[in-house]
Amino acid sequence: MSIDAFHPEAFTGGAIPVRLDADDLPVLMAFERRANDDAWSEALLEAALRDDGYAVWGIRSAEDSTLWAVAILAYLPFDAELQSICVLPDARRQGLAWKMLGWVMRCARAQGAERLLLELRESNLAARRLYERAGFRIDGQRRGYYRRDDGRGEDALLMSRDLV
Ligand SMILES: CC(C)(COP(=O)(O)OP(=O)(O)OC[C@H]1O[C@@H](n2cnc3c(N)ncnc32)[C@H](O)[C@@H]1OP(=O)(O)O)[C@@H](O)C(=O)NCCC(=O)NCCS
Repeated sequence: MSIDAFHPEAFTGGAIPVRLDADDLPVLMAFERRANDDAWSEALLEAALRDDGYAVWGIRSAEDSTLWAVAILAYLPFDAELQSICVLPDARRQGLAWKMLGWVMRCARAQGAERLLLELRESNLAARRLYERAGFRIDGQRRGYYRRDDGRGEDALLMSRDLV
């Protein structure tokens, strides 16, 4: 699939991603606590908001500043890495992650990235379907990389797609 198929005009429905900055740390932390089982710490979120090597994107409610969806992108010398993408539980299955993924692919390409990399828990079927539908392919795995609630390890899948 071409990245141009993700042009915002084709699927906005009103909510355009905005780049978050350090002033957004409280609302971003609130979002992480509500939405992300693997929530980032305050220190990591603040570093991502302040570091030029990262871009943190949010889709907000039109009525207030509540975040519905967040993506954290890290820029590497030739690639970009999607370090997090997450949607509020009540706002899932409405196309927000699809829209956000398209947005970050276009941003990464505009910054010169040739590939977008990511990793996910092997058991995360929702994320895996999302990425496969968007043209990502599995490059490899990291055995036992994630810790499960029962203390055992879970494999990470490494995925990527070309942006050029
Ligand atoms: C994974 C996640 C980001 C998807 O967000 P979403 O906004 O609900 O996804 P979308 O509505 O944009 O769905 C786009 C496509 O992804 C796939 N998908 C999303 N959720 C799915 C689910 N629960 N089961 C199966 N496929 C799913 C489908 O292919 C879907 O297309 P379709 O609706 O036409 O079938 C969301 O479930 C989430 O925030 N999970 C917790 C955080 C997380 O796991 N992030 C990924 C870490 S690697």
